[in-house]
Amino acid sequence: MKKRKLKKGPKLILIMIILLIIGIGILSILPKEISKKELTSEEKLVNKMQKISYYRKENKNRYLEYQKKNKSLSLEDIITQVNIGIDKPYYTNTKPSDNLNTNLILVNKYNYVTEDYIPENLEPLDTNYARSGMQLVKDAKEAFEKLSQSAKNDGMTILAMSSYRSYDYQVNLYNNYVKTDGKEAADTYSARAGYSEHQTGLAADVYNGEVPYTSFEETEEFTWMQENAYKYGFILRFPKDKTNITGYQYESWHYRYVGKEVAKEIHENNLTLEEYLAKK
Ligand code: DAL
Ligand code: ZN
Repeated sequence: MKKRKLKKGPKLILIMIILLIIGIGILSILPKEISKKELTSEEKLVNKMQKISYYRKENKNRYLEYQKKNKSLSLEDIITQVNIGIDKPYYTNTKPSDNLNTNLILVNKYNYVTEDYIPENLEPLDTNYARSGMQLVKDAKEAFEKLSQSAKNDGMTILAMSSYRSYDYQVNLYNNYVKTDGKEAADTYSARAGYSEHQTGLAADVYNGEVPYTSFEETEEFTWMQENAYKYGFILRFPKDKTNITGYQYESWHYRYVGKEVAKEIHENNLTLEEYLAKK
């Protein structure tokens, strides 16, 4: 068969059409390629985060948002802090505390106990180790008394001056602080009712029977507590270098019972209770 040759004109038109189609093709692929790359860098970040054992997939978007705003933080810190809830303002996004009536109950500016929550097994503290009328949950009470006795054996005086506080007690305490100092300042050192771990019966404020509790840091009893509190299951709950995590000013006098094992881990790794739980 004889090949039919296209004439020059139509041939040129055909080439131009083909070029046009290729051009449109390239243009339509380009933006997709760019967005694909953006997605990939985010995905890469997520992949890295997923390798961290305490990554929680329900928090993925919050991790990404928080990371954008806090580029200097490590991914471990991003995940820990979002798990704690620090990406949201205090007293927003609050929820009822888990682990009621256990040593690991967490009560802070994101987790609360209800007005009617009274811990089980509250027991009065021996007045050799506390001001009169003090109560703690049985295990915490026994541990505290051992701690205080051991301090006494070393020539120290460590007394509980505030321990279990009811919801109503905290209402009055907080309101009085607000009256004196204003709400903004009060919130830096006093919990709102329902948000104080004193209501768990696992926390004690201590002093040495001589200087006011606010000067506890200057006493030899404080040094003793730093070295020994964890051996009895207590942790310093609001450390100086963790105010951004706990949401409270440093309190050298406030100790929280978590049990010996957890206290040791928290002590040895310089953690707060929030960080310990967020990394689980
Ligand atoms: N001072 C601590 C934060 C409380 O009020 O529970
Ligand atoms: Zn306290």
